[in-house]
Amino acid sequence: MEVVPTGKSLGAEIRGVDIRKPLSSADAQAIRDAWHKHLVFIVREQPMTVEQHMAFSANFGELELSGNSLYKKNYSGEKLGNVDGVTPPQISIVSNIVVDGKPIGSLGNAEAIWHSDSSLVECPPAGGFLHARKIPPVGGSTYFLNMYEALDTLPADLREQIEGRCIVHPVSHSSDMRPRKGFENVTDFSNVPGPEHPIVRTHPDTGRKALYLGRRLHSRVAGMEKAQSEYLLDALWAHATQEKFVYRHDWKVGDLVGWDNRCAMHRRDAFDAKYERLMHRTQTRGERPV
Ligand code: OGA
Ligand code: MN
Repeated sequence: MEVVPTGKSLGAEIRGVDIRKPLSSADAQAIRDAWHKHLVFIVREQPMTVEQHMAFSANFGELELSGNSLYKKNYSGEKLGNVDGVTPPQISIVSNIVVDGKPIGSLGNAEAIWHSDSSLVECPPAGGFLHARKIPPVGGSTYFLNMYEALDTLPADLREQIEGRCIVHPVSHSSDMRPRKGFENVTDFSNVPGPEHPIVRTHPDTGRKALYLGRRLHSRVAGMEKAQSEYLLDALWAHATQEKFVYRHDWKVGDLVGWDNRCAMHRRDAFDAKYERLMHRTQTRGERPV
């Protein structure tokens, strides 16, 4: 097995191992090490069943159940290796495909803004493992940000201002900027509830500190007056989202990309609605950010 860094701020390709088969404990450990060291790993062009996807993901922790996947029919009825072409609840479907007037998954074809997954819950997932099943010929690339490096390079005055501070992660919107249920008609978002997480969090396995921002839309610094909070968040986001901290993944069918949701953020480009894109995602359970 080979671990080949992308040459960017984060990301490494894993080569020479078939992740559809049970891994030796040495290979599993080597991939976990690469995940910790490089934040994002890429395995290219290995089409797999949902069971293989889940079994591989379980090398990184306990699988979470997904909100959007609960026994949704696979749109094409293709044999996925499971019963009746139905995806199990550990698989989230990320897709713009609509069947019988209903989207089969989340995010549609629009841009997904920079985010880390589910920062709006008390214990957000530790890892995300996205597998490409159907990919448009252009568009729909996914970008990842190194939030350790974003913190390490933060100007001292900003670092001082966030010391000991938390961000409120509002529950009102998903990362495609659509309002969640119950927030469709809200016009004042200044008091949307959500958990408070520290802006600087310490990774439980690596011990390294990372900037933890969640998403920009309606987030606010706890206990700070609105104007000051907006100013500070704008400055943090401007710093963190610089090109030099980014790896961009252009997908091919069968690619699997795993990210550490505690120290890497991601976003996705829009793509033409006339193309179908279908991804399956697993997530592993995370801990309360500290
Ligand atoms: C996700 C996500 C982006 C993409 O699965 O959490 O943000 O490229 N996906 O599908
Ligand atoms: Mn996401």
